[in-house]
Amino acid sequence: MNFSNVLIQWYLQNKRDLPWRNTTNPYLIWLSEIILQQTRVVQGLPYFLAFAENFPTVFDLASAEEEKVLKLWQGLGYYSRARNLHQAAKFIAQDLKGNFPASYKDLLTLKGVGEYTAAAIASFSYNEVVPVVDGNVFRVLARFFDIETDISQPKAKKEFTELANLLIPKNNPAIFNQAIMEFGALQCVPKNPDCQQCPLQSGCLAFAKNKIGQLPVKSKKIKPKSRYFNYLVFEDNLKNTVIQKRTGKGIWQNLYEFPLLELENLENDSYISHEIHKKFGSEYEIEKIIPLTIIPILHKLTHQSLYIRFFKVEVNGTISNAISWESIDLYPFPVIIFNFLQKKEQ
Ligand code: ADE
Ligand code: SF4
Repeated sequence: MNFSNVLIQWYLQNKRDLPWRNTTNPYLIWLSEIILQQTRVVQGLPYFLAFAENFPTVFDLASAEEEKVLKLWQGLGYYSRARNLHQAAKFIAQDLKGNFPASYKDLLTLKGVGEYTAAAIASFSYNEVVPVVDGNVFRVLARFFDIETDISQPKAKKEFTELANLLIPKNNPAIFNQAIMEFGALQCVPKNPDCQQCPLQSGCLAFAKNKIGQLPVKSKKIKPKSRYFNYLVFEDNLKNTVIQKRTGKGIWQNLYEFPLLELENLENDSYISHEIHKKFGSEYEIEKIIPLTIIPILHKLTHQSLYIRFFKVEVNGTISNAISWESIDLYPFPVIIFNFLQKKEQ
């Protein structure tokens, strides 16, 4: 038996009995899919039943008070989903005279309906041959066919959709779509799937290559680390200033910068003054500290967000390793400091 037939056989024997599976009514299927976006089946089920009972048709939903819709939605979160649902219901009831959009392409015009939801409704209600591609489908296909494409990349959607298009049986798209999603939800689960009990095991490449834990490949979006740089533009009695070379690993290696006070957080000026005195007070006789940037300049790097401020620090006496402003153009600086210097010269 091929992939699709095994999946469908498995589905017929193992599927959960869920109310939206006993209908082809596009309104009810749409309701269920919107409710199940980012919601688990057990959590979404009572909401689906409440909506279907209170608003049995799209006209009932369209004519409801928004407050009542939001009240029934309470606890599901993402309230924009409920508002989109209500707006789309009004659009269907009024503009389309209750005729539910009847193709994948037309379904996409509804507010809150994206590719996945349009494919689900089109296949479950109208038996249109369009594959659903959600997280479950990514996982099942990536494992069975050993696909290492990073599923967080935009091109992954296209690649997996093309593959699903080859697999979906033309005479039974609805059951295939339900089956592959249910298989991902119940059998080929994210962590430690029970491959010994799996009807697809003999053809599964991830199983054969012992790569189940590595598939699907999903790069983590690492949150950029925030850093708070306070650059100190010293000025001695000769009007000279101090710069230093950045050594060591990390950003801006071998470029120059002003002496840096890096802090763990955004701090107020008096805190920063205090820190400047603490760090440089024994080296220099600090007379005055003047903030040159009030609002920190945000400088985004790939993995870091830098919040940068400049402070002028007037020092009594002469600083031995200071340089003149005339010679400063000779040094390479990170662009953010270069821009600061350009402005200063104007
Ligand atoms: N999650 C999203 N759509 C679903 C469906 N039709 N059945 C089960 N779980 C789902
Ligand atoms: Fe998923 Fe394991 Fe079955 Fe392969 S053998 S499809 S990894 S459950």
